[in-house]
Formats: sequence, structure tokens, C-alpha cells
Amino acid sequence: MNAKKTKKIVVLATGGTIAGLASDASKPQNYTAGQVGVADLMLDVTYDGVELLAEQVAQIDSKDMSFAVWQSLLARLVHWLEQDDVQGVVITHGTDTIEETAYFLQSVLQPTKPVAMTCAMLPANAPDSDGPGNLKDALAWVQLPTASGVTVLCAGQLHAGNAVQKSHSHQRNPFTSHTGVTHPVALRVPSVAQVLACTHWPRVELVLNHASADGRLVRALCAHDAPDGWVVAGTGNGTLNHALEAALLDAQKQGAHVLRASRCTQGGVQSREADVLPHAGGLTAVQARVALLMHLLTQQA
Ligand code: SIN
Repeated sequence: MNAKKTKKIVVLATGGTIAGLASDASKPQNYTAGQVGVADLMLDVTYDGVELLAEQVAQIDSKDMSFAVWQSLLARLVHWLEQDDVQGVVITHGTDTIEETAYFLQSVLQPTKPVAMTCAMLPANAPDSDGPGNLKDALAWVQLPTASGVTVLCAGQLHAGNAVQKSHSHQRNPFTSHTGVTHPVALRVPSVAQVLACTHWPRVELVLNHASADGRLVRALCAHDAPDGWVVAGTGNGTLNHALEAALLDAQKQGAHVLRASRCTQGGVQSREADVLPHAGGLTAVQARVALLMHLLTQQA
């Protein structure tokens, strides 16, 4: 006889390779993400004493992640986490932008209950698909009494949601955790209510410093369709070609917020006396863009 079900775990599905299908299962590299519904992903998954609930929040390849999906995900997370009998939430998500969603959710929600994001590198119908194992690991982790906050579980590894980075394009364990991540104090974080009420998201563009970076892209956009903010992935310690720096300083004079990150995968940017543009500290360029978006959202009337 089944033990009495006393706690709930909710799975919120958004698509990704974990829900992907290959047209020919023997060639799993040729697949479409976001095809298998959450009910099918959960077939055969049971735990004694646990009621598993599942919702399909989106069904996309995470390269197409949008603010609208972030808002839906946040709303459903808040709904479930505030219920006493819900022990934790698992989110299935594509690996490609999981670091952005994880950083966003951890920053805005800072949940005390566990929120485990998980994913896969092989589609659901690949003979050796990694999705079912990753999903089970995430479901097990949210049941640990010590678990809390937003994390990413993949290939047997646990990453903090504000430190995870996709650093490999195709191996089964595509993530690393970077160190020294603290949200820059100058950048404010919106409340859940502010995020859910937002109907016009700020626009933050990401540019890269590189050989012969001349700032023309920045100047062209500022002349025709100026964004609210720029994150520049600088070389090394966030350094910029003079021409790109001049273009970004002009953008700043026109009212845009500009933040320097590094295109290096580890280490972020450390302050120097000669700095002329603010930097994003230990955040990666992609995280810095999310952080600046959130900050700009707090500035909206
Ligand atoms: C995606 O990010 O949705 C596709 C790639 C993946 O999940 O690994």
C-alpha cells in the first residue's frame, strides 16, 4: 500500500533538448527541442509520500527564451512556492540560456525553498538520453532538507543558479560554475510584483571588444534605435578598443547605461584607477545583461 502523500513537488516545463525529439533516434544530433509534453517526461517517475504535479509553462528551444516566458515562469513559481505543502520546484529548460533564466530567478526570487533547474544534451528519444537521469537527480535534490535557492543540476553536478555558465557546446556536462559572483551593489533588483507588472521591458544590447572594434555598431544603433543599456564584453579585464570606448561613452552621454564585463569565461572585471566606464564585477557578460535589465526595470515609472 502507498504511504500517505504528504508533500508536493511541482515540475514546470519550458521545453529544451530534454523535451526534444530526433526524427531518427539513431542520429540524435538531428533533433527539434521542445516537443515532448511534461506529462510524458514524467511517465514512470514516482516517489512514495510525494505528490508530483506538472505544468507546461512553455514549449520552446531556449535560444528563443523571452521576457514573456520569464514572467510566466516567475508567476507559476511564486504561486507554487508559497503553498505550505510544496517542498520544491523543478524546472526543465534548454541548456543554451539556462544561465540567464537561473540568474534572473535567483536574483528576483531568492527562494528559501529549493528550485532545481535541469536539462539534457540529448533528445528524449536518443537511446542513451541524459534527460531522465537529470530529471530524477533534480527531483531527488529538491527533497533534501538542506536544499534551497535556485540551482542547476546536470550530469550529476550541482551549480548555484547565479554562478552557472554553459561552457561547452556539446559534451554531456556542458556547465561550469564561475567564482566571485556577487550582484553589483549599484544595480538594483526589482520586486516580483515589478517584474510581473512590466509590460515594456528595457532594451539592453550586448557588444564585444575584438581586434579593430570600431564602435560603428554602437553609433549606428544609437542614431536610429537607441537601446536603454549596453553591456560590453571587453577583452581581458574588461578593456576596450579606444574607438569602441568612445562610442560607448557617447551612448552614456545620451542617457544609456553602460556596463563593462569580460569576454573571458572566468574572473570577471576588477576595478582599476583608470576606469572610465562602470564594470560588472564577477558577472559574466550574459549575467551582466540580465542584471542591467533588472536594474533598468526598477527605474521605470
Ligand atoms: C535549448 O537550449 O533549448 C536547446 C539546447 C539544449 O537544451 O541543450
